[in-house]
Amino acid sequence: MNYNKKSIEDVEVAGKRVLCRCDFNVPTKEGKITSDKRIVAALPTISYLVNHGAKVILCSHMGKPKGEWKPELSLKVVADRLSQLLGQEVIMAADVVGPDAKAKAAALENGQVLLLENTRFEKGETKNDPTLSKELASMAELFVNDAFGTAHRAHASTAGVADHLSAVSGYLVQKEVSIMGKALANPERPFVAILGGAKVSDKLNVINNLLEKVDTLIIGGGMAYTFLAAKGCDTGNSLLDTEKVDYCKDMMAKAQEKGVQLLLPVDTVVAQAFPSPIDAPLDTKTVDCEAIPAGFMGLDIGEKSQELFAQAVKSAKTVVWNGPMGVFENPTLAKGTIAVAQALADSDAVTIVGGGDSAAACEQLGFADKITHISTGGGASLEFLEGLALPGITCLEDK
Ligand code: 3PG
Repeated sequence: MNYNKKSIEDVEVAGKRVLCRCDFNVPTKEGKITSDKRIVAALPTISYLVNHGAKVILCSHMGKPKGEWKPELSLKVVADRLSQLLGQEVIMAADVVGPDAKAKAAALENGQVLLLENTRFEKGETKNDPTLSKELASMAELFVNDAFGTAHRAHASTAGVADHLSAVSGYLVQKEVSIMGKALANPERPFVAILGGAKVSDKLNVINNLLEKVDTLIIGGGMAYTFLAAKGCDTGNSLLDTEKVDYCKDMMAKAQEKGVQLLLPVDTVVAQAFPSPIDAPLDTKTVDCEAIPAGFMGLDIGEKSQELFAQAVKSAKTVVWNGPMGVFENPTLAKGTIAVAQALADSDAVTIVGGGDSAAACEQLGFADKITHISTGGGASLEFLEGLALPGITCLEDK
């Protein structure tokens, strides 16, 4: 995979209409943005384009409107927040490639910023429809992809448009790819990867790919119980991916063959039922993973496992983490995830948190500035760790 792509600094942008794909898929509640992290992360590229006299046409999706016009998924809230952050007006288009967007794009002065409506209001977006790609491209002279979080999607606004325009990367895409790319291709060792989350089946290829690269692979979260079952442990009522037990055995054999240390939890916090609602108080106890009692399910790693994992992080020079260690939405079951976040925050290693829930945990705990890089991508960072080519990046021009 060649990720050595041209960037906005390699091309002339002054006076040009530049279509810049961002990932403004931000969480909202009752019409208000609850985390503007992705908007903030796009600012370096947008500011560069503005300061270099481009006519900036931004686009993004939000949510999954599936080709329907859904007012609650309008990007107007993003335009408002972006205006505040940029300190200048962000003109909002009433459509994506319709008459309003086209008229406003044509009227842009150098340094002005226009935001198109949610690209997924168009049916052709997720189908990578060439007609939509052409329409988008017709408004601009250059395409910049800065939407790392959406780079794993081959959609009209993330990849298709690059068939019709010169296409380069923005600063965020460059940063994500260079930090994660270096960690995978040429890591400072020891290289430790920590994987969590509910299901083994979500991370099959990530585990396989990381075993080629790391010195230590730590498995926590719900997926650890399938590995424990593969080791012969009785896992009680814990989450079990029965069809993946053999896969886990293969991965354990592969780790041994490659000389990779594979660390699994040694103790676990158990309860008799999954909390409902998820943050409800519940009775728990900590037991050894070898002896999960019948009728109980493991819902977080225990203190001995926290210590074991923290020690591995302490001796590492590169750490990549993706996925919580337990049901971290519940305060009683968040301790394992907090301990891992703390271990990364205390570490002098290059620490990379691959988006999604683990990124949210680091941010909520106030550790964000102690981590080398928190990815803005959830699915995208996972596919990157899998070693897959990301269509939103491969479509860009090589250096
Ligand atoms: C994300 O939030 O991971 C990206 O914006 C991609 O969103 P999607 O999963 O709806 O394609």
